[in-house]
Amino acid sequence: MNSNETLDRFIRERRSIRRYKPDIPSKTMIEAIIQCAMMAPSPSNSQPVRFFRIVSASVKSCLNQAMDKGYNNFLNAVKHHAKYKKLRNRLNYYKRFSEFMFNAPVLFAVGTLTDITGCADMLVKENVLAGDINAYTDLDITTGLALKGFLLKAQSMGLGTCVLTAPMMFLQDTESVMGLEHNIRITCFLTLGYADEIPPPTGRKKITEIFQEI
Ligand SMILES: Cc1cc2nc3c(=O)[nH]c(=O)nc-3n(C[C@H](O)[C@H](O)[C@H](O)COP(=O)(O)O)c2cc1C
Repeated sequence: MNSNETLDRFIRERRSIRRYKPDIPSKTMIEAIIQCAMMAPSPSNSQPVRFFRIVSASVKSCLNQAMDKGYNNFLNAVKHHAKYKKLRNRLNYYKRFSEFMFNAPVLFAVGTLTDITGCADMLVKENVLAGDINAYTDLDITTGLALKGFLLKAQSMGLGTCVLTAPMMFLQDTESVMGLEHNIRITCFLTLGYADEIPPPTGRKKITEIFQEI
């Protein structure tokens, strides 16, 4: 198999993994994966993405409790809503697709530095521009690119991953819950480990829906 076919295979065979074997990938493996994530392009090579591996049981417990609190607040808020059942089911679904992260052998919170300054920031500071509407777009795109490097490298090493944003819905001030500096904005969680499931296939749209020439 040539390297092109190998890349195609990794991209095609990557799946989101939500159930893991208890084995913990070594630090060397984790660092090799992060090294690949770090190769992602970023605006002016600012490299704003940060990976926080959550090893502390107490940080995990604080996150879990904060998520429960957020979930219960939502449940209370929808209690008398006409579409209570539908909303409750949706909340339960999101909760289910959040909670498995605490059972993953390796859990990361992924975020970006917020004090990166680009040209637009300078214009805002000098009152030339009212606000930089692209500030988060750049950071989110950069995070996505770093995540893709992470996911593919993990896949090539026989490891499974899952990106999670559902927990963010239940969390408020995630950075404080995790005891992080205030110049960090956490945008998602990320699990890593040896897969203990073969998820059912997920379809993809037809290329004609995704791609057009204009
Ligand atoms: C930005 C983003 C957020 C996601 N959030 C969650 C999540 O919170 N929980 C979860 O179980 N899966 C989450 N996923 C995984 C998607 O559900 C998954 O990628 C999609 O269903 C396609 O399946 P596949 O990755 O196995 O091909 C997320 C994926 C992305 C890219």
